[in-house]
Amino acid sequence: MPATAPDGELDSRKIRRVDPGVLRQAPDESAFARYPQSWYLLGSAKQLARGPLSRQVLGLDLVAFRTESGRVVVMNSRCSHLGADLSRGKVVGDCIECPFHGWRYSPDGRCSRIPNMTSIPERARQTVYPVVERHGLLFFFNARIPLFPLPFLIDDTPADFVAAKPVSFVADCSWYMVSAHGYDSQHFATVHSRKLHGPLQVDCPAPFARRSRYRADVLGAAYYDRLLRRFAGSTVDISITTWGGTIVTISGAFKRAISRFMICLTPLSDGKTRCDVIAFAPRANTVAGRLFAQTVGLWIRRLFTGAYLIAETESLGSPRYNPLSLVHADSEMIDYFCWAAELSGPSENPSHGTA
Ligand code: FES
Ligand SMILES: [Fe+2]
Repeated sequence: MPATAPDGELDSRKIRRVDPGVLRQAPDESAFARYPQSWYLLGSAKQLARGPLSRQVLGLDLVAFRTESGRVVVMNSRCSHLGADLSRGKVVGDCIECPFHGWRYSPDGRCSRIPNMTSIPERARQTVYPVVERHGLLFFFNARIPLFPLPFLIDDTPADFVAAKPVSFVADCSWYMVSAHGYDSQHFATVHSRKLHGPLQVDCPAPFARRSRYRADVLGAAYYDRLLRRFAGSTVDISITTWGGTIVTISGAFKRAISRFMICLTPLSDGKTRCDVIAFAPRANTVAGRLFAQTVGLWIRRLFTGAYLIAETESLGSPRYNPLSLVHADSEMIDYFCWAAELSGPSENPSHGTA
């Protein structure tokens, strides 16, 4: 199991350093959690208007629904009675009712009604997961208690921004190989045509967060690089923060524009990783601003960000983690892998419902 600090909490502020010339040992593949305890994108909140939503993700069978009072609830979808699918049931007030024998579950997962029964057994309950509705999207945490709040870009407030519809693609590698990009200084030159002005500046700005920052010149002949140089600027200050290993917030400050986006990673059962990229634009207060910044501007940001990341994924094929093949030039990446290997998975499999 991944190591934890003596108080039971991950000591995510730890920044490991090695003496110059000493290569730190990268963790074995078995050290990484298959589904780290973190926030995950569940889908669009709009989908709840049609009724309970079924999702199979991270080895869990989930149902999301909106109560009649407007609250969103995410819980295990296999009924604690005989396992029927609650996503095929209906919302009644603040509860969801199972389609099989009519048991009703409250937002806290407890069964509040069993037809023709006056007492309710303690085991009649569903596992409930923390959920946040933001920018029209639903995010859930895959443990009963979230280890950290749903992140956003450091120094920015979600309410000040609007979000584009996510751009989605699948990377043929593990979640920690995708999120290690932020600490892979060589690939910024090879893949992204960036010329770094110096080494990566790495710190841990919050619990369960690891950040990499650098300044770089935008080289490259791809159309998005040429347009970036022409309209945004030829030098950029990048800040990449990885939260819980699966949410990556990225800002790129050019001379004439700031790019902000978030990548939500979801490990798939076949070892690949679904990537949902959400681009953000500042919320406008004027009609003209709403017309441009929140529509055309957001569309352009979404197009650029998606093209940039999808082109990268397609160009890499199927990279695989190998701790024995890492070299001195990979030192920051090795430190990241050590940090990521300490992120815990769920301490138990809660897919069968009882508390
Ligand atoms: S299976 Fe759900 S109430 Fe019986
Ligand atoms: Fe990259």
